[in-house]
Amino acid sequence: MRLAERRLRLDVGLAAFRDLWHPQPFREIRPAWCERWPALAAELLALPDETVRHLNDDGGASLAWLARHLPEAGEIGALTELPACAAQRLPDLGPHWAWEIPGRKRAQIEAFAAAAARSGKEVFDWCGGKGHLGRLLALQWGARATSLDIDPALCAEGRELAQRAGVDHEFLVADALAAGEQLSDRHHVVALHACGNLHRTAIRAAAERGLAALDVAPCCYHRGVEEAYRPLAAGASLQLSRDDIRLAVTETVTASPRQAWRRDRDMAWKLGFDALRRAVTGEGYRPFKPVPPAWFSGSFEQFIGAMARREGLALPPSFNADEFERRGWQRQREVMGLSVVRHAFRRAIEVWLALDLAAHLESGGYEVGLGTFCPRQLTPRNLLLSARR
Ligand SMILES: C[S@@+](CC[C@H](N)C(=O)[O-])C[C@H]1O[C@@H](n2cnc3c(N)ncnc32)[C@H](O)[C@@H]1O
Repeated sequence: MRLAERRLRLDVGLAAFRDLWHPQPFREIRPAWCERWPALAAELLALPDETVRHLNDDGGASLAWLARHLPEAGEIGALTELPACAAQRLPDLGPHWAWEIPGRKRAQIEAFAAAAARSGKEVFDWCGGKGHLGRLLALQWGARATSLDIDPALCAEGRELAQRAGVDHEFLVADALAAGEQLSDRHHVVALHACGNLHRTAIRAAAERGLAALDVAPCCYHRGVEEAYRPLAAGASLQLSRDDIRLAVTETVTASPRQAWRRDRDMAWKLGFDALRRAVTGEGYRPFKPVPPAWFSGSFEQFIGAMARREGLALPPSFNADEFERRGWQRQREVMGLSVVRHAFRRAIEVWLALDLAAHLESGGYEVGLGTFCPRQLTPRNLLLSARR
């Protein structure tokens, strides 16, 4: 099946379940689907915390769990599964190419380099930071490399690292959003974790210029999307808001128990404030700006005071802060339980977004492959789009 066709099938599947993945339980105390599927909602709200945590962290497990209630949802799983990319063995380049690269980052770069097949072209490392990927591929492929990044300090460090490794590696300080003209048919574009519009610009610009090869591992799909996602390829019916797209990248696989507890506490306090505001104003949910991390370092009462000042909420002369903290924790547990159904579709939305890029490239005459270049424990943004023509 061509990827464009797969995208259209996933499009239909996701549209059918929109009522489950679009509403945000953080904002809506009981999303409308709770009335349509009361047994599902009741079972989720009664699950032990440990099970909820596991299901929220593992999209495959939450989709399998959901498919027990709604068997049709199981079909989404089949459309979302992707093969692992074929990986070549990397030559032994000695210890020096990887100076200063933290372990996890190095492992991601090596996995990407093992999965991206050489095309005989020069490497163009799009949003390459210090150019680690460009440097590795230049050594591995025996090719010249160019890395482009907006940050002059990263480029300067990259230049030094390239010199130390003896690599023919040029650095361009430029805004990738306006740098399409830097690409030409002598380049093979690689982009590891260029966010949102940055990877979309690379794909559009490479396809317009008919480049022979590109390998892109996308991330932060929501960056550069104002309100609604505008698909690159024609024919899709799915409407994705910025918040829907954010859902695709909310998965974390690296949280320690302490970080996980803090994440829960932060959410509980925000929900405690939301409960208080609802009680004072009689209104429903109102969004608020990101909360400075320092506001969580004092007591709940201090947190409420800071939030009320910033949000212009007139607090009653006396109220029971402990009660609103308790309500916050209660709602946090409910939000996590009800979120299992959203998270069941998280990977499907990510794959749909990647398939949109793939379909755009296929319509431009490319042979396109989509697979995973590393296990999700190394990075959940592990999709690799490889296009050749
Ligand atoms: C997540 S990092 C990835 C860096 C590198 N590809 C890697 O995997 O190590 C994203 C990079 O994009 C760069 N960046 C952000 N906005 C940019 C823009 N408008 N133009 C070019 N580079 C940009 C950042 O400076 C950063 O180095």
